[in-house]
Amino acid sequence: MSYKFIDLFAGIGGFRLGFEKYGFKCVFSSEIDKHAQEMYYENFGDMPFGDITKIKVQDIPKFDILSGGFPCQPFSIAGEKKGFNDTRGTLFFDIARILEYHKPKVVVLENVKHFKDHDKGKTLQIVLQTLEQLGYSTSWQVLNAKDFGVPQNRERTIIIGFYNKTKFDFLNLEKKQNIKISDILENDNNNFEYLDELEYTIIKTPKKQISGLTFVGYRNKKIRKNGVRKNTEHLSRVHKQPNRIYSSEGTHPTLSSQEPTGRYFIYHKKRVRKLTLKECYRLMGFPDKFKKIGTNAKQYNRVGNSIVVPMVEEIAKQIKCQFFNQKYELNYQPKQLNLFDPVN
Ligand SMILES: C[S@@+](CC[C@H](N)C(=O)[O-])C[C@H]1O[C@@H](n2cnc3c(N)ncnc32)[C@H](O)[C@@H]1O
Repeated sequence: MSYKFIDLFAGIGGFRLGFEKYGFKCVFSSEIDKHAQEMYYENFGDMPFGDITKIKVQDIPKFDILSGGFPCQPFSIAGEKKGFNDTRGTLFFDIARILEYHKPKVVVLENVKHFKDHDKGKTLQIVLQTLEQLGYSTSWQVLNAKDFGVPQNRERTIIIGFYNKTKFDFLNLEKKQNIKISDILENDNNNFEYLDELEYTIIKTPKKQISGLTFVGYRNKKIRKNGVRKNTEHLSRVHKQPNRIYSSEGTHPTLSSQEPTGRYFIYHKKRVRKLTLKECYRLMGFPDKFKKIGTNAKQYNRVGNSIVVPMVEEIAKQIKCQFFNQKYELNYQPKQLNLFDPVN
């Protein structure tokens, strides 16, 4: 039996790739950004519906799972514990009204790590209260992409609700051993953008941080002025994010949704170069065959906005086991088995 899901705030389809891998079928998607819609269409053959606020619940077909990485917005009414009504005027309200009408079995939501602290924790509380009010047993956790087979330190708040059933158990998620940036790099590409040695400084004793990142140096740009003491130039925080250089033997920092020029620099084989766009998609767990269209600037924004695919795959697999009591079967063709194509 194939369970159906809807892909809200679909972006370029990170949720969709993950759920489809475990045999779930997408029956509806919504995304407001034109470029994301076009990329989604290129890859899945469905053009997402636009603005979710304009979509009538009756026009959405029946489905079992609602997924969505929704934008984080403050709720206007504070602490009155009204749940659903507190959410009016936000995009979460649109999720709630769809849940209220369709009562799908499962809801999976994604947001940035700091969603849990947004408005002193009130935003998360209202979301959880609303879901409970609508009949969902909810649980949430901050998950890190690096635990799911990609070398990126990307923490995200994940909220899962099961309709009228015991909560999703995050402890059952199978975590993978961390891999390094060098494990996902392209081998040969005549267009690698190397920096000249005069353009950067490598520090003497780089240390691997708890996060898995190894800050090795910086581009020779102006450093932050405020609060910078003498002889602290080797500290990563002194340098703006786009000027920091990380070792390919560690984890990469979070790709940003606001970095249209892709200023991600790595130290690899004793040289400094920019990550390629293809490598950025690999850091998000997208297969090499994923079609990329539009300007580089748009693509950098889209990839930084997305959800990490292997993390969704693990969530989809666990939903299949925990909610639907089914052993998971892989629903993808052998040629797609490798996360990355062997030939670059
Ligand atoms: C954090 S991103 C989610 C990305 C997605 N999970 C992916 O894998 O690419 C949030 C998305 O919501 C979309 N969005 C914002 N407002 C919307 C609206 N009113 N209706 C539909 N989509 C909207 C944005 O364009 C953005 O792509």
